[in-house]
Amino acid sequence: MIDLKGIYTESILSALNGELDAQTIYSLIETPKHQHLGDLAFPCFSLAKAMKKAPIEIAEHLSQKIKGPEIDHVQPAGPYINVFFSKNEIARTIIPSILTAGAAFGSGEDGIGKTVVLDMSSPNIAKPFSMGHLRSTVIGNSLALIAEKMGYKAVRLNHLGDWGTQFGKLITAYRKWGVEEDVQENPIGELFKLYIRFHQEAETDPILEEEGRKAFKELEDGVEENIRIWTWFRDESLKAFMTIYDLMNVKFDDWNGEAFYNDKMGEVIALLEEQKLLETSEGAEVVRLDDKQLPPCLIKKSDGATLYATRDLAAAIYRQQEYHFDEALYIVGQEQTIHFKQVFGVLKKLGFSWADHMKHVPFGLYLKDGKKMSTRKGRVILLEEVLNEAISLAANNIKAKNPGLQNAEDVAKAVGTGAVLFHDLKNDRMNNIEFSLEDMLAFEGETGPYIQYTHARANTLLRKSPIEDVEFTSLSDEDSWEVIKLLRLFPEMISKAYTQLSPSVLAKYLIDTAQSFNKYYGKVRILEQDSELGSRLSLVQAVVIVLSEGLRLLGISAPDQM
Ligand code: ARG
Repeated sequence: MIDLKGIYTESILSALNGELDAQTIYSLIETPKHQHLGDLAFPCFSLAKAMKKAPIEIAEHLSQKIKGPEIDHVQPAGPYINVFFSKNEIARTIIPSILTAGAAFGSGEDGIGKTVVLDMSSPNIAKPFSMGHLRSTVIGNSLALIAEKMGYKAVRLNHLGDWGTQFGKLITAYRKWGVEEDVQENPIGELFKLYIRFHQEAETDPILEEEGRKAFKELEDGVEENIRIWTWFRDESLKAFMTIYDLMNVKFDDWNGEAFYNDKMGEVIALLEEQKLLETSEGAEVVRLDDKQLPPCLIKKSDGATLYATRDLAAAIYRQQEYHFDEALYIVGQEQTIHFKQVFGVLKKLGFSWADHMKHVPFGLYLKDGKKMSTRKGRVILLEEVLNEAISLAANNIKAKNPGLQNAEDVAKAVGTGAVLFHDLKNDRMNNIEFSLEDMLAFEGETGPYIQYTHARANTLLRKSPIEDVEFTSLSDEDSWEVIKLLRLFPEMISKAYTQLSPSVLAKYLIDTAQSFNKYYGKVRILEQDSELGSRLSLVQAVVIVLSEGLRLLGISAPDQM
């Protein structure tokens, strides 16, 4: 589908004598600040040289030559040429095509035949699922849904943090201070307490660190007792994480955590040795990178234990063999930027050409009172509590607004989680987000519930006046045009969100669309029995399709009633 800019570009191109090419024209076109100035504006400055005339004169002269079936009229405005589209002409193509496509509206073809793997969520076992992991989960899941919409096969990978020296520390702490029954009762809470205690006591007792390292080495060497405790911690943690994923309706295709790569490490080290890439530095084995700004990548510690990076190298090779990915995305906080540069750098040194198609997709932090939330210091907000609180507040709200609502519980779940997810996704992913339950749960303003509510409201109109056998013919009011223009943009917004790897593009677009529809709703009597009723209902139906599909791509469901 050609966008309005494309239509305008074509008509300007044919009014010119080759002074500018289509791409340049397209990139120059602007959107006027106010609707009454036109739908789009073309500035004539860059034609002045070629045409040897002042921009104002050019605008006068050219505006008489710009024509097209979708163009109602053009108007010179100083050095600009403003265009007014023939809205019914455009609406007559776009609205029926949305209704015919239904939920498939906006699907793209860029990804057909390609596979993208997304490393997302990846919480650390025996620790609470933090707000940081929330960001990875919701951004990753939305990118996966958007990729699928573009035709890709998306593979969601949960690279669980289930290996590393911290498990040696935890085993040590458990042996010293742990009580089996307490851990059974409240696994994550108890293990987390043990973890914090370990770090507090280690500040004054240096032997603890040593014991922790030893316990991890034993774990790596397969000492049975250590493996037993670790497996128990892992199982209990997974159960707790599953509750959260169920609440958010996120599913994974691959649960291979760091431990899975334990027996695949030898291969990586052998490859590095074969290509003479390993160097010894202070007793440890490292790979020096071509980019001299980067610190060398640590592969093996002096005691022989492998590291986070080593496991990521093994994981990348495994994933290429297993999934033959065309793109690999790592949705991980920006504090790990150097780590991923190192990992990709080592893979390139190993000669893997596919390493060029790997991308770290970083994001900012959740802040609390302007400060970083840290697991170690205990300044951490528990996602499960946040979600449950959001759901119960949503339930209260629904009870007050719509006491008779059927399946109110499901709706509350959709609205509560939708509020939390949207609050995250509407932000450019690199921005830090100040954690505020209040803002998340505000059911007015730029929030998920606002869009869900707009969708339900539109749906209610269709329930009152079913759309069967109605047809779009024409609309004479002014406010529908803003809505129609936005609906047209949906496919473009989806592909832009994917190109920028930022669901916020889509989230912001949904806010605009919901706002413009609510304005329309407030001004026009949609259900009035006149000759345009069918056209208005078609428009409403198109809004329902775009809002619910748009929310779905953010991982948020859109209840029919609220
Ligand atoms: N578990 C890690 C953490 O919480 C994130 C893992 C990201 N994925 C990866 N392949 N390194 O910091």
